Formats: sequence, structure tokens, C-alpha cells
Amino acid sequence: MALFDHQRERDSVSGDAATRALSVTVVENDFVAGVYENLAFVYDWVFGPTLHPGRIEAIRKMKIQPGESVLEVGVGTGINLSMYPSSSAVTGVDLSTPMLDKARDRITNKGLRNCRVAEMDAAQMTFPDESFDIVYAPYLISVVPDPVKVAQEMRRVCRRGGRIVILNHFKSANPIMSRIETAISPLTVHIGFKSDLDLNAFLTQASLTPISIEKVNIPKMWTLVTCVKD
Ligand SMILES: C[S@@+](CC[C@H](N)C(=O)[O-])C[C@H]1O[C@@H](n2cnc3c(N)ncnc32)[C@H](O)[C@@H]1O
Repeated sequence: MALFDHQRERDSVSGDAATRALSVTVVENDFVAGVYENLAFVYDWVFGPTLHPGRIEAIRKMKIQPGESVLEVGVGTGINLSMYPSSSAVTGVDLSTPMLDKARDRITNKGLRNCRVAEMDAAQMTFPDESFDIVYAPYLISVVPDPVKVAQEMRRVCRRGGRIVILNHFKSANPIMSRIETAISPLTVHIGFKSDLDLNAFLTQASLTPISIEKVNIPKMWTLVTCVKD
């Protein structure tokens, strides 16, 4: 929490977390779909092992109870699916057909009968309000055109008292790193993420109040944010 508090102190001086742009980079869904169409065949090799400690920690921390329903937003190739307890009911959504094809193969090959996936835009989900106990976005929020809209949708489909969990890379609190991340963001978007997403502005604009924020992966440049819907 210390990192977040520190950032908040700086924001109280600049006072613009509620209005400033979350990233210098602007994307549209078509562009994102094109990037992941190209990445689908190599995704698990390129982004598998490096980002895996964060995935494991996120699911461990959820303490999923038997019978709980989980929505994974931006499920991709389904790399997380076999880590959920078989006693939970898991739904994954994604924009990219080639990524979802991989996820479907994985569900079949691994016999994951508690998992299903569907093609859907995270910013406009078709689920009724309060459909899930846990709504989880691993490595999604810096990919989408409108992170705040996606967070609002995640909140809408989560039941009261349920958890909203976001695992992502956000812009560093270190001024030098943050400048580098901002400069390279128009480039990193071509490999699937904006490197300069502003955590505090995102949380403020999405009206999310975390119960925990922790650093994950090696190096610890990714952030696991857990919120409870009130
Ligand atoms: C970096 S991958 C994350 C995959 C997986 N969750 C993981 O842990 O590695 C991001 C995924 O989000 C999907 N995505 C991007 N924009 C989306 C949107 N608006 N709605 C749904 N999925 C989206 C991409 O197609 C891609 O599969």
C-alpha cells in the first residue's frame, strides 16, 4: 500500500488524477484484435513463464471457495484456466478469435469441464448485473482502448461483496522509469500493452478502492490490485 499512498500524496499536489489521460497511447479494438491475431501462436512461449508468478499469486490470493463463479476478462489462450479449482465455475471472455481458439483447444485437451469461453468485448459484456463472485482481469487493462469503461463493466457484473482483481503493469513511481515507460508506450502497444498506464488515475477514474495492492513477478514491475464491491 505504501507505493500507492506515496503516489496519492503526489496527486494531492497535482490534483488531477480524476481527469488526466491514463496513457499517452490511444488504441482501438480493431488494432488490438490485429495484434493478438499475430501473437496467438507464440503468446504462451513469449508471455507464459515471465508473467506466470503473478498469475499464480493472483489465484492463490483469491482463495476461491467451492461453487464460486469466476469471470476472467481477457482470457486469451486460457493460460490460467487449469489453475482454477475444479470446484469453481469459470467463464472466460476475449475479443480475439485466434486467442480463444487456443483456449478452446486447451479446455478440450485438459478436460477442464468447469471452464467455458466466449467472444465478447470487455467494455460491453452481455452478462446481467452481479453475475459472478470474482471478476478477474489478468494482463488486460493496459491493452484495452478504455480501461475505465472495462473496470466499470467488471464492477457491474460482480456481485455485491464479490472481488474485482486486476493484474497488470502500471507506470512506475520512479521518475526515470516512468519517463522511459511513457516514451516507449507507442511501441510496446504493438506487442500487446501500453507501458505507461497510470495506476492512481485509473483507480480514481474507475472509482475502485483497493483492499490490497502488491508487486508481483520478477522483477516486481507488475501490480496485483484486489478490490471488494460494496
Ligand atoms: C496480454 S493478453 C492476457 C491473456 C491472459 N489473461 C494471460 O494471463 O496471459 C490480453 C488479452 O486481452 C484480450 N483483449 C484485448 N482487448 C479486449 C477487449 N476489449 N475485450 C476482451 N478481451 C480483450 C486480447 O485479445 C488478449 O487475449
